[in-house]
Amino acid sequence: MKIFNFTIKNSRTMKAALGRGMADIPAEFPALFKAADKLCLVTGTDAPSSLRARALELFPERKTPHFYFWLPPSEKAKTLEQAGKLCSFLFDKGFSRNSLILAAGGGAVTDLTGFAASIYMRGINWISVPTTFLAQIDAGLGGKTAVNLGGAKNIAGTFHQPALAVCDTAFLDSLPHAELRSGGGELVKYALIGPGELSRLVKKNLSKTLAGDKAALTACVSACAAYKLKLAAKDERDEAGPREALNFGHTAGHAFEALSGGRLPHGEAVARGIRFALIASRETGLLNRETFARLDALVTALRLPPAAAVRRDFRKFLGLVSRDKKARGAENRFMLIEGFGRLRAVENLKPAPLKKAFEGALK
Ligand SMILES: NC(=O)c1ccc[n+]([C@@H]2O[C@H](COP(=O)([O-])OP(=O)(O)OC[C@H]3O[C@@H](n4cnc5c(N)ncnc54)[C@H](O)[C@@H]3O)[C@@H](O)[C@H]2O)c1
Repeated sequence: MKIFNFTIKNSRTMKAALGRGMADIPAEFPALFKAADKLCLVTGTDAPSSLRARALELFPERKTPHFYFWLPPSEKAKTLEQAGKLCSFLFDKGFSRNSLILAAGGGAVTDLTGFAASIYMRGINWISVPTTFLAQIDAGLGGKTAVNLGGAKNIAGTFHQPALAVCDTAFLDSLPHAELRSGGGELVKYALIGPGELSRLVKKNLSKTLAGDKAALTACVSACAAYKLKLAAKDERDEAGPREALNFGHTAGHAFEALSGGRLPHGEAVARGIRFALIASRETGLLNRETFARLDALVTALRLPPAAAVRRDFRKFLGLVSRDKKARGAENRFMLIEGFGRLRAVENLKPAPLKKAFEGALK
């Protein structure tokens, strides 16, 4: 495991441990682990039992009183109601601002737990322990927390950095192939938006990660997580520009998730959102056909299953993208691409290229 510190502009430091095996972590952060008067481990009811035991390895001494809170599976966890239930549970058990919450699970668990940690007593410490590939390279890092509202993704949320993020790829040993492939959606994003070195590393390891190769997963998690944290440190609140690159594929992706009633896994939705952005870039003349084919081949490599759950309702899609919180008052706003690592924010795209991209992305 390697420990990283990323200093947020004019602010505090984001701490992350990235790699495989976390036995040495408690000793690295004595103040954080020993100072906590109580600990609550939050995880999903559908998580494998090995996950809870592994997460508790962070507390080898077992002196701190432990409590457990179970969230409903996946997106069902991301509701205001669940955040309220978790806060009430913490209050009932006497949690104070000296207590600690440990979120161990996929992005749904880290999003919801981070949100509850940010509002409970106006903010208490939490540790993010992402346990899916997708959450280790993206969701569990950077301090964005969220719940869904009215069928739309991440409409209420906060920025609340975890005191520490731990991405231990040993958790991924129990991850089903479908979840690795879902993480592949975000992985392909890094190959497209990242600097040359990161892009080459991802392309080299893409097929091995999808096959569950431990070394490839560890290499990709370490590199992508460090890159995400670097962008988040430069632009924590997603206002100054650098962090917007991470949104590549997400505007259409979130709309596809909504059109599937939450049945399309997030990473698959992002992969289709990336294909949407690639087609829209080609149709608006930003990408020539040859470059389009090279970039799109990375999405093809994921071998996505058919997106049968997504309603082919283009009008609804237009309504969803215009209400995206990143639209900034425009009719629509998408991150498009001109080549590897060259993104361009484009507003008010006409319906014709959008329709072509919508249909192509859902083929
Ligand atoms: N906050 C952010 O910056 C950010 C960024 C990207 C995505 N997200 C959010 O992340 C969520 C998607 O996260 P996800 O892809 O991790 O999905 P998820 O949280 O729904 O988890 C997927 C499944 O994997 C299971 N699981 C978790 N760890 C496991 C393990 N080690 N072994 C076996 N099974 C395991 C879970 O129980 C669940 O059934 C979405 O809600 C998305 O909006 C947030």
